[in-house]
Amino acid sequence: MKGKVCLVTGANTGIGEVTARELAGRGAKVWMACRNQTKAAEAAARIRAVHPDAALELLPLDLADLGSVREAAAAFLASGERLDVLVNNAGLAGQRGVTAQGFELTFGVNHLGHFLFTEKLRDRLVESAPARVVIVASRAHERVRRVDLDDLRRPTRTISGFPEYQVSKLCNVLHAKALARRLEGIGVTTYALHPGVVASDVWRKVPWPARAVMKLFMVTNEEGAQTTLRCATDPALADETGLYYSDCAQKQAAALARDEALQEELWRRSEAWCAPGSTPH
Ligand SMILES: NC(=O)c1ccc[n+]([C@@H]2O[C@H](COP(=O)([O-])OP(=O)(O)OC[C@H]3O[C@@H](n4cnc5c(N)ncnc54)[C@H](OP(=O)(O)O)[C@@H]3O)[C@@H](O)[C@H]2O)c1
Repeated sequence: MKGKVCLVTGANTGIGEVTARELAGRGAKVWMACRNQTKAAEAAARIRAVHPDAALELLPLDLADLGSVREAAAAFLASGERLDVLVNNAGLAGQRGVTAQGFELTFGVNHLGHFLFTEKLRDRLVESAPARVVIVASRAHERVRRVDLDDLRRPTRTISGFPEYQVSKLCNVLHAKALARRLEGIGVTTYALHPGVVASDVWRKVPWPARAVMKLFMVTNEEGAQTTLRCATDPALADETGLYYSDCAQKQAAALARDEALQEELWRRSEAWCAPGSTPH
């Protein structure tokens, strides 16, 4: 990965931190896009403790605010850096609320913020081709039976927030497939993946001691980062695009995720929702 530039969202903890650390350890320059700069600096220090020569840059990014997304993308573009691998990793689960622009919180962070970020960085990816967009989704997407896209502009409806999480992860897979179509033949490939069930901070809202018991049955952050790393770096996957991976291997995504009409409808709406002036805030 020497000479390559990677950008990882949510790189301050969990799967994202391991991804950033491993990419830096393989010689890439890594931009760590995080919402909390203290946590980001602490994570960078942990990475440098393992890889003293790690080339790291911190980029403030709050995916729950499309204004912050635009600023982060502009700051990256202003650096003039190439972009070989974009890893859309950040995510939340089991939380309730709305984003700064009034979208359902989990959808807004996990999909819409990343959608706009990727669109803003798309030309740079194309200029840097061959390049990759790796989207950390989840097998939770398989549980969605139907999706009401109008629901995504309202506060979280359910108490647990998990049905909304499943929808957000379906949107991640739909996004990877629709983006792959738009980038076909120009050297930018996309990958959506399930990282495993990982004992990361994503379970922070599950009450203790249930959280402690659940984590006993989960894999480590190191194991959880392996499918992301394969999609980000393996030369054998260079010609694959728009596919879904789990356990470091290609897997069929759920039927709803393969629905081309739904992929295009989500794309159309995401584009409209991200257009400046389209939201009240
Ligand atoms: N853990 C699992 O079992 C599992 C299973 C399937 C899929 N995944 C997916 O894997 C990805 C990584 O999750 P993880 O398990 O490593 O969880 P994690 O340890 O909680 O890390 C999530 C990261 O996302 C960041 N984030 C949350 N909201 C954000 C926002 N508004 N703006 C910018 N960054 C934000 C967090 O920042 P803060 O630290 O500041 O909150 C953190 O850096 C997620 O997309 C998740 O859905 C995880």
